[in-house]
Amino acid sequence: MIVLVGFMGAGKTTVGHLLAARLELPFADSDQIIEQQAGRPVRQIFAEDGEPAFRALEHQVIAGLLDGPDLVLALGGGAAEHPGTREKLTAAQVVYLQVGYDQAMARIRGVPDPESRPLLARPDLAATYRRRLPLYAAVATLTVRTDDRPAQAVSQDILTRLTIRLSLLDRTDRGARTRKG
Ligand code: S3P
Repeated sequence: MIVLVGFMGAGKTTVGHLLAARLELPFADSDQIIEQQAGRPVRQIFAEDGEPAFRALEHQVIAGLLDGPDLVLALGGGAAEHPGTREKLTAAQVVYLQVGYDQAMARIRGVPDPESRPLLARPDLAATYRRRLPLYAAVATLTVRTDDRPAQAVSQDILTRLTIRLSLLDRTDRGARTRKG
């Protein structure tokens, strides 16, 4: 299970698709699954049920996906604020896509439908960004910089670093077994 976390505009969905293709794993985006289950877009869930209801549903969907078969999973930017979700993430390989605030805003405002992200209407968005940074870092097993880098380069960086880590773990594991005799 490879999970991508980070603020809106970090490139979780784009990088997630690239990683999934390279790893031959299915890809899922928590927002998309939430929308399928609720039968409404995220924006409408926020407007009709309120943010706490969205966050509860978000946690439930993510916990279910983490209990299921391996995939590359992109989480919504606010998912790491839920303590229960952070707890569930301790069992996964979690990649934190770091993005600077200005770059995140430039990326998000450039998409065809910026209103699809209800948080953009918030006057305290910069404070929300700052509050979340330590939470992303806390759940991450790998942190990757995305500012001024194309998604392809970010995806390749993740694959290289995961491969190095897995081969090191494998050698450490073999070494430990050899030492035990
Ligand atoms: C949110 C981020 C969005 C989506 C919802 C709330 C947030 O996902 O879950 O609009 O709280 O940061 P992306 O990070 O994929 O845009």
